Amino acid sequence: MRLPSLTRSKPEAPGVHAEPFWSLRPQSDREAGDAVVSNFMLHWFPAKISKASMAWNYSFWLGTISAALFFLTILSGLPLLFLYVPSVERAYQSVKDIEFVITFGSWIRSVHRISAHLMVIVVALHLMRVFLTGAYKNGVGRGQQREVNWVIGVVMFLTTLFLSFTGYLLPWDQLAFWAVTVGTNIAASIPAIGASVRELLIGGRNIEQATLIRFYVLHVVFLPGLLGVLFAYHMWRVRKDGGLARADAESVVESPRSTAPVPSKTYTLLGVARGTAPTVTAHTLDAPDATVNAVPDLVRRAAIATLGTIAVISIMSVFIASPLEEPANALVTPNPAKAPWYFLWLQEIVTDTTIRIGSFTLNGAFVGGVILPGLLVGLLTFWPWIDKSSHLAAGVWLPRDRRTQNLVFLLLILGVLALTFVGMVLRGPYWILYWPWEAWPEIPGRI
Ligand code: HEM
Repeated sequence: MRLPSLTRSKPEAPGVHAEPFWSLRPQSDREAGDAVVSNFMLHWFPAKISKASMAWNYSFWLGTISAALFFLTILSGLPLLFLYVPSVERAYQSVKDIEFVITFGSWIRSVHRISAHLMVIVVALHLMRVFLTGAYKNGVGRGQQREVNWVIGVVMFLTTLFLSFTGYLLPWDQLAFWAVTVGTNIAASIPAIGASVRELLIGGRNIEQATLIRFYVLHVVFLPGLLGVLFAYHMWRVRKDGGLARADAESVVESPRSTAPVPSKTYTLLGVARGTAPTVTAHTLDAPDATVNAVPDLVRRAAIATLGTIAVISIMSVFIASPLEEPANALVTPNPAKAPWYFLWLQEIVTDTTIRIGSFTLNGAFVGGVILPGLLVGLLTFWPWIDKSSHLAAGVWLPRDRRTQNLVFLLLILGVLALTFVGMVLRGPYWILYWPWEAWPEIPGRI
């Protein structure tokens, strides 16, 4: 049997595919184009891509790395699905079995857990990159809707957080139980409807079987499904918007070098009307030096980013074990009880902000848990319509035109990071601040 080769040795008749696979080393532009359209995995790639948008130091490939991490969580989640039992009596023991009995169980669990945590970080970094390069702005192309892709992105970010949060509860140990207790209590602070929102979330008054099955179904079916659909649309939009905003920025910079209009064709219409056809200015992206073929250039870089991510996570998972504390116990409260790390900045604000104006008291949980995140998410969502800077500031790192908004954005990020650090490292028993080198006092019954 003849094995398919990666290269085509001799030219083929037009339209005939002699090999079942596509070429990764095309010999001509035509073959490169064929490689894209005839392959299911690559058909959503453009045939050509602007060189500048592929630069490692423009996007840092953070979107691709986010996608690779999402893929890894799904892949490593599948074997866990066969072994985990979503019942309060058996969940903890099933995780313990995965950890200590199943061959490679602890490694698979670590791959899943590390990818999930890193995904929160990398998606956040991708969001920051898009903001700082103003890549939610449209360029000069027709029908672009990058602001829609930004809004889809915000929803994807929130879905990623919720996906991670729902997974947090599943081991049903003390860490899981109390992190979710603290997290869902933040929702309870919404005036009037807070208690109902929490009840809806956890399926009752207390975190118990109804909560576990709710979080389980959200974690393994709804949220990954939603994220998958959003991801497909996200990528389709990138394609429809003419690629990354960087490509637009490049064409604006380069356009003075575009070919001058050539008064070319003359026409006649049934001999009645005669004239010269409208001339077409060659677009820079058509210029041979501005683009490369997606196969092999884009495919090679996407493969490096994806395989690199898989390799790094696989190695990290050998050395970093996943925690499993005592089984969940509603009667033993850890001191301090902390929310998952990505909600710690909110927990920090909740504890620090109780505003009193005369006899009126504004509950800190309401400020930190509702007003502030609501305001931030609202601002983030609608920022593309608030930002009035020129389209020339799109697809460019830290442009002068967007200096102030980028500065405010970076200060906000710095604030969130500082509060997360305080919550993670400096908070001790009774939520008192301790330096990392200070010992915590002995507290009777503390776990
Ligand atoms: C699971 C989450 C996400 C995945 C897997 C993902 C994936 C991607 C990929 C692969 C790209 C192509 C360019 C690149 O690699 O940077 C991209 C571009 C883009 N993403 Fe995301 N993304 C996610 C979340 C977000 C978020 C949170 C936002 C913003 C709120 C966002 C907004 C955008 C925009 C506007 C573009 C076009 C960028 C440009 O034109 O330079 N994405 N995304």
